[in-house]
Amino acid sequence: MGNNGTKNNKGGVAPLKIGLGIIGFGTVGQGVWKHLAATKKNMEVRMNVKIELIGVCVRDPNKTRAVKIPRTQIHTAPNDIVDDPRVNIVCELMGGTTLAREVTLRALRMGKVVISANKALICEHGAEIFKAVSEYGGQYLFEASVAGGIPIIKSLREGLVANRFSEIAGIINGTCNYLLTRMEKEGLSYETVLQDARRLGYVEADESLDLDGIDAYHKAVILAFLAHGKWIPRRNTLVEGIRNVTLEDIQRARDFGYRIKHLAVIRRNFAKGLMTLGVYPALIPLDKVLARVDDVYNGISLTGDVVGTTTLVGRGAGQDATASAVIGDIVDAIRTLKGASLKFLTREDLDSYAALGSTVRMASQEEIHTSFYLRFLLRDTHGVSAEVYRILAEEKISVARVVQYENPGTRHGTHTLSTYPVTEAAMERALRKFRRLRNVLDRPLVLRIFAPGN
Ligand code: NAP
Ligand code: HSE
Repeated sequence: MGNNGTKNNKGGVAPLKIGLGIIGFGTVGQGVWKHLAATKKNMEVRMNVKIELIGVCVRDPNKTRAVKIPRTQIHTAPNDIVDDPRVNIVCELMGGTTLAREVTLRALRMGKVVISANKALICEHGAEIFKAVSEYGGQYLFEASVAGGIPIIKSLREGLVANRFSEIAGIINGTCNYLLTRMEKEGLSYETVLQDARRLGYVEADESLDLDGIDAYHKAVILAFLAHGKWIPRRNTLVEGIRNVTLEDIQRARDFGYRIKHLAVIRRNFAKGLMTLGVYPALIPLDKVLARVDDVYNGISLTGDVVGTTTLVGRGAGQDATASAVIGDIVDAIRTLKGASLKFLTREDLDSYAALGSTVRMASQEEIHTSFYLRFLLRDTHGVSAEVYRILAEEKISVARVVQYENPGTRHGTHTLSTYPVTEAAMERALRKFRRLRNVLDRPLVLRIFAPGN
C-alpha cells in the first residue's frame, strides 16, 4: 500500500491524497474532525499529503451537531463509507459490537486502515479482527480504546517493549474516577455527579458498562493481551463496579489511611506461570501515585523487569483526550500509507503474542492473596462482634485494624476492619457465613486493599 505520491509537473512530489471516513459522529467522531480540521494544514505540509474528509456516518442525519459538515457528506449506511474507493482510513467511532464488527472486518478485508476507540469490540472480537489484519494486510490502530489521551498502547508496543510485566495496575475508567473524586471532594451524591459526567461526554451510551466495571474489564483485557499475549475471558476474572460504594465508605477509607479508586489490576507471576486480572473498587494507600489521580484522569502503573515501575497519567475520557489519541493513530496510518514500515499485527506479531500467552494460566481463587476492608452493619446487641470474629478465625483471616462507629438514634452500629492478606477463596467462604448471621444487617461491603505486588 506504500505510495509516496506522484511527481507533479514542477518536478516535486505531488501530495498523496488521504481519504478519511468517520463512522460515528458523536462525542469522539466530532472531536476528531474538529481538532483535525484545526491542525490539518500543518500535518499536510509536514507529511506532504492532502487529507480529505470524504464522509461521516450517523444514525440520525437530522440531529443538530456542534461540528458542522455539509449534508451531502452525512450518510446513514456505514458501507457507503467503507466501500468508497476514495476512503483509505476508516475511523470506527460508533461503538457497539455487532455492526461495528461487520464494518471493521469489511474494511480490513479490503486492506484498508481502521482506527478505533471501541474497547468492547476489541475485547470481544480482538482475536478475529487482529487475524483479519494479518491476513489481508490492512491496519488496525486502537490507541483511543484504553485510557483516553494516554499513549498506553504505543508504550506497551514500543517504548516498554523490553519488559516483562509482573504488574499493571491502573485507574482506567474516567467516569468512575470522576464520580468517586467529586463525591469525596464535594460531598455530592452519586446521581448529581453522574449527570455531569453524562453532560461532559465521559459516559458510555450504555452507562452500566462504566458503573459495573465492564468498560474497565474491556480495557484491561486489551492491556493483558498486549503485555501477555492472552485474551482473558470474563469467567477467569473479577469484575466489580462502584455502585455499592457510598460517600460514607469513601470517608471511612480515609480514616484507615486510604482513598477508594476503581482499579484494574493485571498480575503475572513468571516463576509460577500464573496470571490474574481483576477490576474493582480498591483502597489505595494515600502515599501512592494512583491515590492522587483524580477527576476524569486515568493513571496506569506498569512494573516491568527492565524499567521498574513507570506511571502514566492523563485524561482518560472525553472528546478532546480521545480525539488526541485517534489523531495520533491517523498520523501513524498516513505514514504507513506513505510507505513507512510501522506495521503492527503482522503474522509474526501474532505468533509472538501466542508464544507469550502459551506459558501462563489464570490463577484460581485459592492462589490469589489480597488484603481486604470490610464494613458491617451490626445489630446493637452483646456478642455480635464475637460472631463475626469467630468466622474470621475459622477461615484463618487475620485482622489488621478495627474501627467502630455508633449510628446515633438507631439500634445498630457500623463496624469496619481491614485484614492481612488472605486468599479470595477464604474471604468468599467467610462472606457466605456472615450472610447467615441474624445480627449482621445488610450485606457486608467488601473492598480489596491495593498493595503493589500482593
Ligand atoms: P456517541 O457520542 O454515542 O456517538 C456514537 C455515534 O455513532 C453517533 O454519531 C451515532 O449516530 C453513531 N451511530 C451509532 N450507531 C449507529 C448505527 N447503527 N449506524 C450509524 N451510526 C451509528 O459515542 P462516543 O462517546 O463518541 O463513543 C464512540 C466510541 O468511542 C465508543 O466505542 C466508545 O466506547 C469509545 N470511546 C468513547 C470515549 C468518550 O470519552 N466518549 C472515550 C474513549 C472511547 P447519532 O449521532 O445519529 O446517534
Ligand atoms: N466511558 C469511558 C470512561 C470512556 O469513562 O473511561 C473512555 O474510554
